Amino acid sequence: MIEYRINDSVIPDELDSFFQNWKSPPSREIKGKLLDGSDLIITARENGKLISFLTAISDGTMHAFITLVEVLELHQGKGIGKHLIKLAISHFKGYYDIVLITDPDKRAFYKKFGFNEIYGMHIRDFKYGKGSTSDNTG
Ligand SMILES: CC(C)(COP(=O)(O)OP(=O)(O)OC[C@H]1O[C@@H](n2cnc3c(N)ncnc32)[C@H](O)[C@@H]1OP(=O)(O)O)[C@@H](O)C(=O)NCCC(=O)NCCS
Repeated sequence: MIEYRINDSVIPDELDSFFQNWKSPPSREIKGKLLDGSDLIITARENGKLISFLTAISDGTMHAFITLVEVLELHQGKGIGKHLIKLAISHFKGYYDIVLITDPDKRAFYKKFGFNEIYGMHIRDFKYGKGSTSDNTG
């Protein structure tokens, strides 16, 4: 049976099985910091084992940003991601904006929950976590 928890306590080691297809997966230290810095952590556990999680940051009233949604490959396609997103939307009910960044191949997934495409801008450091700093402002 899958158990969903809001603001569950997660230790960085539990994230080791995730980020499989990432070119530059976060280090243990970064995993710890991102867990500490998140305002919302929703987990899905099967027999206690973490099989999916969602993190978000928020100003607590108007804006929320869903930062990570990850379902272990073995458990994808079972409705877990859907449940996490629904819980996050319900958690931030009444907010002006709930935003996230995703790849085009996930567009249809997020549209199911009412997410619309918007114009956005960002600075991304593709060397993040690799021990060097890069200047993206030039
Ligand atoms: C994307 C992801 C979160 C989806 O979670 P999931 O648990 O596999 O998806 P679900 O089983 O909950 O799917 C819910 C619905 O979305 C559909 N769906 C799932 N992935 C989809 C995709 N990539 N594109 C379109 N539809 C998708 C399912 O068919 C299902 O449709 P239904 O409700 O009509 O039956 C998950 O596959 C994942 O973690 N992928 C790797 C990491 C990642 O890409 N994270 C997102 C970064 S923003």
